[in-house]
Amino acid sequence: MGSDGTHHADYTKFDGLAREETLEMLVSSYLALAEGQDNWVCNLANASSLIWHAYRSLPVDINWAGFYVSKDSTGSELILGPFQGKVACQEIKFGVGVCGTAMKMRETQLVPNVNEFPGHIACDGETKSEIVVPIIGSSGQCHGVLDIDCLDYDGFTKVDQIYLEKLAYAISQTCKF
Ligand code: SME
Repeated sequence: MGSDGTHHADYTKFDGLAREETLEMLVSSYLALAEGQDNWVCNLANASSLIWHAYRSLPVDINWAGFYVSKDSTGSELILGPFQGKVACQEIKFGVGVCGTAMKMRETQLVPNVNEFPGHIACDGETKSEIVVPIIGSSGQCHGVLDIDCLDYDGFTKVDQIYLEKLAYAISQTCKF
């Protein structure tokens, strides 16, 4: 329990909020939890939990939420980081799949139908749509990507993109990779 009487688990109570409010709270909760903490494993683990509970509180049927991080300074490969959901593929090459493409293009990949994305890596055959946001550091390096999968087509919108990019920026500013 925190000194103000708040339990850490209270940050995962998103119920009853609209989508934008939920996503705003996701970003502000992450920033509150990351205050005084710059360890990326710790912060990305809590960020995965926040994303999971935020989307599960909405009518968005996500089945995976988490991170792939740059395996080394060459930037040639991503490796599985903290996440919520089923076991996933461990390594993804630069430029391959939705995650590797986000890393290469350094741009969010909003994928309404994964079957139409060339080279999509199906860690879970039930996934229908996906959003992947790169985490870019202050000197321009890609530290990794944030990835969320959904069991429905068109699971994510531009509104999700806006808030998840804010979250990725907050992560880049608070974590030492
Ligand atoms: N679908 C991703 C792979 C990671 S899983 O979704 C967890 C991709 O194509 O890069």
